[in-house]
Amino acid sequence: MTDARTPEICDYEGSSYRTDFWEGQGRDYEDRVERIALRRLLPPTGERLLELGAGFGRLSRMFTGYKQVVLLDYSRSQLEYARSRYGDAGFLYVAANLYEMPFAPGVFDGATMVRVLHHMQDPPAALGSVRRVMQPGGVFVLEFANKQNLKAIARWILRRQAWNPFEREPIEFVELNYNFHPGYVLDTLREVGFEPGRMLTVSHYRIGLLKRTIPTGVLAWMDSLAQLTGNWWQLTPSVFVRNVASGEGEAAPEGAFWMCPQCGSYEMVEHDDVLTCEDCGTRWARRNGVWDFKEPLGASS
Ligand SMILES: C[S@@+](CC[C@H](N)C(=O)[O-])C[C@H]1O[C@@H](n2cnc3c(N)ncnc32)[C@H](O)[C@@H]1O
Ligand SMILES: [Zn+2]
Repeated sequence: MTDARTPEICDYEGSSYRTDFWEGQGRDYEDRVERIALRRLLPPTGERLLELGAGFGRLSRMFTGYKQVVLLDYSRSQLEYARSRYGDAGFLYVAANLYEMPFAPGVFDGATMVRVLHHMQDPPAALGSVRRVMQPGGVFVLEFANKQNLKAIARWILRRQAWNPFEREPIEFVELNYNFHPGYVLDTLREVGFEPGRMLTVSHYRIGLLKRTIPTGVLAWMDSLAQLTGNWWQLTPSVFVRNVASGEGEAAPEGAFWMCPQCGSYEMVEHDDVLTCEDCGTRWARRNGVWDFKEPLGASS
């Protein structure tokens, strides 16, 4: 962990994450058990859901019970791919930094963040940023990579790994890739204004031999049963936790959705694929259907 003022970003721009990591890469089991956990924890319907670090939209189709699904990711190319799959009806694509989101406070009643916290150099800032845009009582389902997993414990006991899986500090095992202790994640969630509740442990059987020899459906079913012990102990590589946004938090004026990431104004006017901040004049463009908050168009005169 560093105490740099602006956390670094693990940049997926132009990456082949979809084809290198998912499609045809033997991870159907992981994909299925993650969907089971999400279905169990997230209310199936609602007004507006924010998918944080949505990537190429692997999971986005699951959220269509919400009137609007907002896919947020730092990578424009991942979002462009997602848009080519889902189109614009009911979906909005926003390229922005999770730490500095261009949304007014309290505009989402649902949020999910899967396989993203593990890239966060500053989890309190990232989770605080999520809390800011959640409506009080809204539900946020967070997945995190668990450092206290059985494999890490065994490796530590056998002295094949230097770091202690029981210590609460996040471990950066590869640059900008972190694993977290469940206690650390739960404390951080509470500190920023969430009330964590039901937990599901996920991917109990993430072992090559099992995945190759047991049919995926059977393995996923076994995992779905084991997930239910999630509040008692957490020894899997992945953990899902359902949180409710507690307290009141900031409130935006009625009807506000965008917030200028430059000056914090809610006076954002949309015209011809350009969003202009009426207060500081900064303009933001929508290109190929993706709102781009990574680089402003520049101040208008
Ligand atoms: C491992 S992928 C997960 C994608 C998707 N959630 C899934 O499970 O298939 C991590 C995603 O987080 C995004 N990401 C990382 N840091 C980010 C940040 N600071 N702001 C927004 N997105 C970020 C990356 O661009 C990438 O698409
Ligand atoms: Zn502004």
